[in-house]
Amino acid sequence: MSYLFPTYARWEVEPDTAIGTLLTDKNGKTYLDFTSGIGVCNLGHQPEAVKEAVKTQLDRFWHVSNLFTMNEQEKAAERLAKAAGMDAVFFSNSGAEANEGAIKLARKATGRNKIITFTQSFHGRTFATMAATGQDKVKQGFGSMLETFEYVPFNDLDSLKQAMGSDVAAVMLEVIQGEGGIHIGTTEFLQGAEQLCREYGSLLIIDEIQTGIGRTGKPFAFQHFDLDPDIVTSAKGLGSGFPIGAVIGKESLNEFFGPGSHGSTFGGNPLSVTAASATMDEIFQEAFLQEVLNKSEYVLNQLKTALSDLELLVEIRGLGLMIGIELTVPVGDILTELRAQGVIALSAGEKVLRLLPPLTVTEDELKQGAEKINEVVRNFCGTAL
Ligand SMILES: Cc1ncc(COP(=O)(O)O)c(C=O)c1O
Repeated sequence: MSYLFPTYARWEVEPDTAIGTLLTDKNGKTYLDFTSGIGVCNLGHQPEAVKEAVKTQLDRFWHVSNLFTMNEQEKAAERLAKAAGMDAVFFSNSGAEANEGAIKLARKATGRNKIITFTQSFHGRTFATMAATGQDKVKQGFGSMLETFEYVPFNDLDSLKQAMGSDVAAVMLEVIQGEGGIHIGTTEFLQGAEQLCREYGSLLIIDEIQTGIGRTGKPFAFQHFDLDPDIVTSAKGLGSGFPIGAVIGKESLNEFFGPGSHGSTFGGNPLSVTAASATMDEIFQEAFLQEVLNKSEYVLNQLKTALSDLELLVEIRGLGLMIGIELTVPVGDILTELRAQGVIALSAGEKVLRLLPPLTVTEDELKQGAEKINEVVRNFCGTAL
């Protein structure tokens, strides 16, 4: 019997230790972990530099409150803002809280209520972010939603044009829809959305909670598309597993987030911001990010070569190390078999197998993983070679 609410359909795997890409369970079985804690452990499990930095901070102080000036926060904020090409940061504890902050900031700064988001998007589980999410299943049973969101089909610029107006506070989007199925925004759509925001005086909010912190081979995925957002949200990979989120904005937004306007007891916790700085120091380097792109090309080629003849394959797509394998069938049983074979992966929607390996994964690990995926998917559809 478990005393946890059954909000998660938990796997049978119980971790004992995890280092790098490898996770060992209580029975001594070792797995390739291609989930990175759902896009969190971008440097793999227990990255040495982050561990050392947090250990040092553990011996100094753990929590003092945001009433104090903390160089640790200033340092992380500067690193993050500069990487996003922005000027100001609010630290939260999670992705949903970062998006809550972004929604509040956009509404206050524009004096407008309406926010446009997209079908199949995912922005979190709090009341505002659940309402922002363009998936009915996330909202079912929770009663009336915050009403000021309108959902438009993703990658459909004409529909977005029709929904835009001078009452729109913001357009909020994921450059690659993660939970919704690894759907990559087209350059035309993303740049068009930005253009519409400029035309109507609306803000462009980019949710980089899953796509940011090097996941796609750039500090933030929007940088692949030459975009200039007003607000970017971050979380997941930012703290390498220490809980942290962030609202990152342009200087002009400073005046709307003055003292007393927004806050969080734990947001910007010294241990989390220290982990974030150490994480960014490793990831936001040209050579590291180039490696992510090289590994991406390698694994996408491996997967495409291995799987392209399969009838049940719809598409293999991805940017950096955020990869989706869309099939014509639900992937639940395939994931269970993959775990039995020693590879842990995720789903995105019902029919997409989602791979989020650590950015530090080796080519050899990618090769092993791709081979296992090929084997399991082939066995599953009864066409094993
Ligand atoms: C794009 C996106 N936004 C927001 C969230 C919510 O983040 P959190 O679970 O940290 O609240 C997630 C989590 O999966 C996400 O992928």
